[in-house]
Parts: sequence; C-alpha cells; structure tokens
Amino acid sequence: MGANPVPLRALCRRVLPSVPEQVRCIRAYSGRMKYRHLHHAGNFADVHKHVTLLAALGALKRKEKGFLYFETHAGRGVYDLADSAAESRHGIGRLVGTECVAAPLRRYLVLLEQLRVGRGRSRLYPGSPWLAVSELRAQDRAVFVESVPEEARALERALSGAGPVRIRAEVGDGFEKLRSALPPPQGRALTLIDPPYEDTRRDFERTSAAVADAIKRFPTGVVAVWYPVKVARDTERWLDGMARRITRAMLTAELRLYPADSRVALNGSGMLIINPPYQLDVQLAESLAELYGRLAVGPGGGIIVQPREPR
Ligand SMILES: C[S@@+](CC[C@H](N)C(=O)[O-])C[C@H]1O[C@@H](n2cnc3c(N)ncnc32)[C@H](O)[C@@H]1O
Repeated sequence: MGANPVPLRALCRRVLPSVPEQVRCIRAYSGRMKYRHLHHAGNFADVHKHVTLLAALGALKRKEKGFLYFETHAGRGVYDLADSAAESRHGIGRLVGTECVAAPLRRYLVLLEQLRVGRGRSRLYPGSPWLAVSELRAQDRAVFVESVPEEARALERALSGAGPVRIRAEVGDGFEKLRSALPPPQGRALTLIDPPYEDTRRDFERTSAAVADAIKRFPTGVVAVWYPVKVARDTERWLDGMARRITRAMLTAELRLYPADSRVALNGSGMLIINPPYQLDVQLAESLAELYGRLAVGPGGGIIVQPREPR
C-alpha cells in the first residue's frame, strides 16, 4: 500500500521558510499562476521597457564605479517569437530592419541583431536579463530572480557564457529577495521591478511596498518599475500614492498607443524611475518620441516623460 500523498498546501508550508514564498508556491503549483511572458515578448510594452532600461543602464555606466543590477521578475532571458508572434508584430516587428537615431534605440537594435546572428535564429527576442548582461561591465554584478523554476532554468541557459559579468540567477520571490540585496556592497544599484500584474491589485500593492522598502534600505539606489497603463485614473492614483510614499525624485516615462481608457487590454506602457540618473529625462523624451513615431497605430496615443516631485 502506497503512502498517502502530502497535500500541496502542507508540502509548500513544510519546505519553504516564509509565508509569501509558501503562498507563491501554492499558487504556482495549483495552476493558478498562468502568466507566461512568451505570449507578450517583443510587444510594444516590452520594446518600451527594454529601450528605457538600456537608457538607464547607459546613464549608470557614465561612472567607472561598478554597480549592482537586480531584477525581481526576470523571466527566461530569451524568447522564440516563432512560438508566439501575434503581439510582437505591433512591437519589435515594426522596428526590425529600420534605421533609428536615438542612441538607446540604436543600441537595442544592435543587441537584437547580435542575439539573432550569434545564435543563428532570426525569430529570437532578448528579455531584459539578456539585454542587461550585454551592457554590464567586469566591475558590475547582476542578480536575477524568477519564481517559476522552469523559467529560471531557461534563464540560466540563456545567460551561460555571458562575458565578464558576475551573475546569479535565483528561483524565488523577487520582492522578498530584494530585501536582502540592499544596500549593495558596491554602493550603487539599479533595480528593475517587472511583475506580471496577473493579480493586478496585489502586484501594484507589493510593488509599492517593495519600492518603499528598497529606498528605505538604500536611499540613493535607482529603481525602475514597469507598470501597465489601462484606466488612466487608476494609473494616476497609483503614481500619486507613490509620490506621497517615496520622498525621492521620480520620473515617469510612458508610451501610450491608444487613447486613455480605451477598451483594449493595454493602452500604454509605463516606467517609473526613482532617483533617475542625470539627464535621463532628456534622453527618454527623444528616444520615446522616435519610438512612438514607429509604433503609433492611430490618433490619441503619445508619450509622457514627466519628472514628479515627492508630495
Ligand atoms: C513580465 S515577466 C518578466 C519579463 C522580463 N523582465 C523581461 O522584460 O524580459 C514577469 C516574470 O515574473 C515571474 N514572476 C511572477 N511572480 C514573481 C515573483 N513574485 N517573483 C519572481 N518572479 C515572479 C513570472 O513567472 C514571469 O516570468
């Protein structure tokens, strides 16, 4: 007679030390967490996020001193658009083979080409970890956290042989792991927080708390948060709340493809940057204006690059 199987809930509680990790485990393995970034890879929001990230990394690299790059929600590092091309047609699909002027956009296209040519596969798309690692130097360090074990294993494979940068990929809850990473020994850091917002309200709440905690632990660190723009009033309310909670300089950089409150899944893509590097606003205004010119689908969209003072 076989032993009784241990119920999933009890098993997660037994093997994981903290309650958030246990909850994540139960959700992941009970099939409730269905998000797979593959379906969205290379869409307009990914392009906007990745170009903004490259601009921020470029700004940090103006100083010789190394920094920590930390990603709380890393994904699998490289995606094959042959498996899921629909959304990417309106994103990266519009840029491939075109000439761009703004430096972060040009860099983005160079890296895309490097990945595709280097691996001999013309439908690959680089996720943020792959792009970041391509930009980091020997004096920098990178830590990536991904909660889905299969995605984390793919990430390790995607980043293997990645140049001189010291990298660590971990399976777990990115919000939790960020707590023990700050302040970094290097005295400089860029953190990217890029949740799936599958459970939208909870991810917004956890993101706000994680940013507040990160800034408390390391007040001068740069933190970049991706957020979806759906209902404009909700987005503004969340940003206002952040400005009240975080007493540091902030910058929002949004690319909106559809008029406010349209009934499409995603009207726009936003990046909130806390402690933005010097002149990042100027560079993003130029880059995103050019990007919008390539991706626009009709009237009513546009870009917003706006410094926000703490309240
Ligand atoms: C939007 S995707 C990340 C995309 C990636 N940053 C990029 O731009 O290439 C979000 C990822 O976070 C993972 N995830 C969800 N909740 C998480 C958590 N609490 N901690 C770490 N990873 C999580 C998902 O499995 C998914 O791979």
